[in-house]
Amino acid sequence: MSLHIPSLILTLIFFFFFFSSIATASSPSNLTIYDHLRHQGLPVGLLPTGITQYTVNATSGEFLVSMEQPCNAKFENEVHYDTNITGTLKYGSIGGLSGVSAHELFLWFPVKEIRVDVPSSGLIHFDVGVADKQFSLSLFEDPPRCTAESRHRLQNQAHAEDVLWAAS
Ligand SMILES: *[C@@H]1O[C@H](CO)[C@@H](O)[C@H](O)[C@H]1NC(C)=O
Ligand SMILES: *[C@@H]1O[C@H](CO)[C@@H](O)[C@H](O)[C@H]1NC(C)=O
Ligand SMILES: *[C@@H]1O[C@H](CO)[C@@H](O)[C@H](O)[C@H]1NC(C)=O
Repeated sequence: MSLHIPSLILTLIFFFFFFSSIATASSPSNLTIYDHLRHQGLPVGLLPTGITQYTVNATSGEFLVSMEQPCNAKFENEVHYDTNITGTLKYGSIGGLSGVSAHELFLWFPVKEIRVDVPSSGLIHFDVGVADKQFSLSLFEDPPRCTAESRHRLQNQAHAEDVLWAAS
């Protein structure tokens, strides 16, 4: 009897460390950038699918998100994402943003800050420097599929030129 108790304790200690090491090893790697957005009260649809890697500085909130290629997603307006997107995550906002632009009046404006109201007003604000564009939060519920548009657009343009050429 007296021999079994220490081995039982050793077994318990072993299992304790075994499972706690699994927990600490696996839980951070399971987090996605979308979890970080959610934790900051931001909609996950702000970033598209197809993110290959990301880093977030837990102290400062500075982040880097990388994608395989630049791409465009369509909300109400078209939004362009560069290969690398950087900024600072805070509760309810992303500041110092670079790598995201919004299409407006045939021009692309770099988005400098994205902000939601706390408490929520159902709106999200895109600060594009010259203006504060408001969108409905409901547009950003899910990460959008992002497509490498530029080649497509060039083809369309070439096609349009062919048509004009043929017409003249
Ligand atoms: C974390 O990842 C591991 C291994 O892929 C998986 O077994 C586990 O269910 C995941 N945990 C959560 C909370 O998603
Ligand atoms: C994270 O941010 C803190 C505060 O700005 C800074 O001191 C630290 O060096 C950063 N860590 C990394 C890994 O960049
Ligand atoms: C994206 O960031 C990574 C890491 O900082 C860098 O190595 C890479 O050159 C960057 N790519 C582009 C297209 O800027």
